[in-house]
Amino acid sequence: MEAFKTIEKILGEIDAEAPQDLAQLETYRIRYLGTKNIIKPLFAEMRSVPNDQKKAYGLALNKLKTKAEDKFQILKGQLQDQADQSASSARDLSLPAGIQNKGSRHPISIVMDRMIDIFDKIGFVVAEEREIEDDWHNFTAMNTPADHPARDMQDTFYLKNSTTELLRTHTSSVQARVMMTQQPPIRIIAPGRVYRNETISARSHCQFHQIEGLYVDEHVSFADMKQTLLYFAREMYGPKTNIRLRPSYFPFTEPSAEMDVWLGTDTETTKKLTKGTGWLEVLGCGMVDPNVLTNCNIDPEKYTGFAFGIGIERSAMQKYGISDIRLLFENDVRFLRQFSTVI
Ligand code: PHE
Repeated sequence: MEAFKTIEKILGEIDAEAPQDLAQLETYRIRYLGTKNIIKPLFAEMRSVPNDQKKAYGLALNKLKTKAEDKFQILKGQLQDQADQSASSARDLSLPAGIQNKGSRHPISIVMDRMIDIFDKIGFVVAEEREIEDDWHNFTAMNTPADHPARDMQDTFYLKNSTTELLRTHTSSVQARVMMTQQPPIRIIAPGRVYRNETISARSHCQFHQIEGLYVDEHVSFADMKQTLLYFAREMYGPKTNIRLRPSYFPFTEPSAEMDVWLGTDTETTKKLTKGTGWLEVLGCGMVDPNVLTNCNIDPEKYTGFAFGIGIERSAMQKYGISDIRLLFENDVRFLRQFSTVI
């Protein structure tokens, strides 16, 4: 029978095969085991084999297929070993090691973690919340009237087709989130990203980072706040750092203040960052407005509190002598790589 003869012929061919390297082995594989191998058509021949020989034919065919596979596996092991050996003997162990790209932490993260550590030491717990907020937590609960200009589309990014969902404009929204679910004593810090519809320049961006602080308990005073912030400033900017509190206005605190730290005007960066005054504006703060406590179901007769919101970018720029805020958001590796030695 013709088909039996073909099997014999291919068996002989396989015996004679002696690939010398992996490339030749690949030719072997394609010929006997590939999708268009020469054994495959023999299976179709089964139809024309007389019934009394079908069994024998099937056995012979399977033997052929197994032989092709077994030989391939054995050769593969041998030739792979051979290739590995010649590669290692070709290796020059005296060559200098390749340069490894080391990852780096973003300056914003470095500064933020440092600030978290500082407040952690005096018992503030991290509270993280959503960046997509509703106007109740971002504005209404925070005592910001319905017609306040901050709510304007010009200042706030609203979600498409929504008048209530927005990108939070400050981390103060976390104050409302926490107070709605917890009764005092509350002592939290909330680090995170915030968004404002601002023109991007060297000094301001439409996204930036803040750390919110909130402390609510019985008998919390303005003096407590001042001492807490002085402690923070001295940990962050050095033990002799001076601060000043300027009266200010925020809808959610009363009284309100802004805190500056003294950097001086010795360098170009401090001159730029402080607009020539020597004072860097670091945070907004104040005593939590009783209306905010009431909005969040906390009894303002029993409890008082203070809150503050620290801007991260300016401190990072001051710390690392960065004079353009945009560098912090471009993710240019040439910029980021410079922080790979900072731990
Ligand atoms: N949310 C204010 C801002 O973004 C900062 C602030 C927080 C002020 C808490 C007072 C109290 O400017």
